[in-house]
Amino acid sequence: MEETRKEMNENKVAKENAKQNPSAMVDINKVSKVYPNGVEALKNVSFSIERGEFVFLMGACGCGKTTLIKLLMLEERPTSGKIVSAKRDLSKIGRLRVSGYRQMLGVVFQDFKLIKKKTVFENVALALEIVGASRKTIKEKVQLALAVVGLEEKADRYPEELSGGEQQRVAVARAIVNSPEILLADEPTGNLDPDNSEELMRLFDEINSYGTTVIIATHEQELARSMNKRIVMLDHGEVIAS
Ligand SMILES: Nc1ncnc2c1ncn2[C@@H]1O[C@H](COP(=O)(O)OP(=O)(O)O)[C@@H](O)[C@H]1O
Ligand SMILES: [Mg+2]
Repeated sequence: MEETRKEMNENKVAKENAKQNPSAMVDINKVSKVYPNGVEALKNVSFSIERGEFVFLMGACGCGKTTLIKLLMLEERPTSGKIVSAKRDLSKIGRLRVSGYRQMLGVVFQDFKLIKKKTVFENVALALEIVGASRKTIKEKVQLALAVVGLEEKADRYPEELSGGEQQRVAVARAIVNSPEILLADEPTGNLDPDNSEELMRLFDEINSYGTTVIIATHEQELARSMNKRIVMLDHGEVIAS
């Protein structure tokens, strides 16, 4: 019964989306964002990202990258315009359904955001505990995610016992453990040295090759360009190339 209703809803959503860009994983349509203090962080931004794409959101500090990531995470709402993400019209997701939507995303931040008092295993497991996975599933999935980022051996360590590069890889494991549709990263290399930054990018590329759509906000031009991926360029809240 629940399944049928879910299917019907998804069909309805799919039909609505067909009018826009049917295959897009993310469709941003004439989106503007004005913060309460009057700052216009995004101005009439439109672009879409296909399922399985790897895209950099690039531009100087203050151009609106984090605002875009926040809109995609439903941490902020647009002032005008429409965003469809993972087949959902985000304007139709009310406060109570935000966490359900977020379960389809994996998010990586500049400052890792790991819990100090939890081990590597426990940090990664948290994302699965939230969705009520069984112990057995948690164990299997956490081990798999740690294997992807090359940290199986460090499952019992605490974040402080790891290097910055390793901590960020734990954060990536946590982001992918729930098999997200979209992996979002906001300045993920901001606290890493060049070698670790390159390694992290290779890891994102590998995750993308398994089918996850990857969206990375960064101001590091050289690093982004070295990856030979699509670049959506922002300047003062406007898309100047996509
Ligand atoms: N919560 C906020 N309230 C007011 N202004 C904000 C807020 N967040 C960001 N801004 C402003 O919006 C603009 C875009 O910021 P942001 O999206 O963080 O850019 P970026 O991530 O590219 O550096 C900047 O001018 C910034 O000062
Ligand atoms: Mg930012």
